[in-house]
Amino acid sequence: MSDYHSSTNLHIFPDEDSFYQAAADFWIQHASQSISAHGYFFVALSGGRTPAGVYNLLTKSPWRDQIDWTKVVFFLGDERFVSRVDGQSNYKMIMETLIRELPVDVANVRLMYKNHNNATEMASDYAQSIRGSLPSCDNEIPVFDLIMLGMGSDGHTASLFPDTDILVEDKEPVAAVYVEKLDSWRVSITYPVINQARHIMVLVSGEDKVDTLSHIFQQNAQQQYPIQKIKPVGDMHWFVDQAAAQKLPVQDS
Ligand code: 6PG
Repeated sequence: MSDYHSSTNLHIFPDEDSFYQAAADFWIQHASQSISAHGYFFVALSGGRTPAGVYNLLTKSPWRDQIDWTKVVFFLGDERFVSRVDGQSNYKMIMETLIRELPVDVANVRLMYKNHNNATEMASDYAQSIRGSLPSCDNEIPVFDLIMLGMGSDGHTASLFPDTDILVEDKEPVAAVYVEKLDSWRVSITYPVINQARHIMVLVSGEDKVDTLSHIFQQNAQQQYPIQKIKPVGDMHWFVDQAAAQKLPVQDS
């Protein structure tokens, strides 16, 4: 196995059902443990396409029956600076696939959405919301129980895109970022808060991720993708489907 960060755990799945069931199991396991340990589950949800399959399972038995949903405090790891009714909005996707289907406490739904003049204002507002809600570690960084991430074929995660200035943000838990190749503004959690999470799960699916994943899991891989700069204090689990795992080393059974 690669020398990639020692606390990294790579899970490869033969089909979509097993991929999503394992991810939903992992999510609920940590929700249950966090609620038992300190009364709440502070989770940062991921946007994009892949996580919708996890959110869909969480609203169904047996997953939905496993925890007290009023103890889950929902945050969003990143958002596009678009209206919350826009098809691009992560807020819209998560409200429709997850939140509206579960008996949550609306006071604990802390998703960001565009209600500001610009992305910088939205980022500052969200940083305050996260700081005001989460316990923090010694150096004042908010601590999530679980952060869900995805990965783009360019190795971005959340909205930490290559060659953007958010990659050097080392203090604020949230920042605004202009992504030139998308010609769009985004707001995203940053490395400090991601690295401080107790648990991280990365969901990677699709053929377009094959080469990036293969590079990341090579022996002595060069550090060239934003996602590789995640050096978590907690554990980091990669959930990868067969399509994306085609060039990865065969796993011990
Ligand atoms: C977003 C996500 C982003 C996503 C990756 C992978 O808002 O788009 O936070 O980081 O996780 O782009 O997206 P897919 O899972 O759709 O491939």
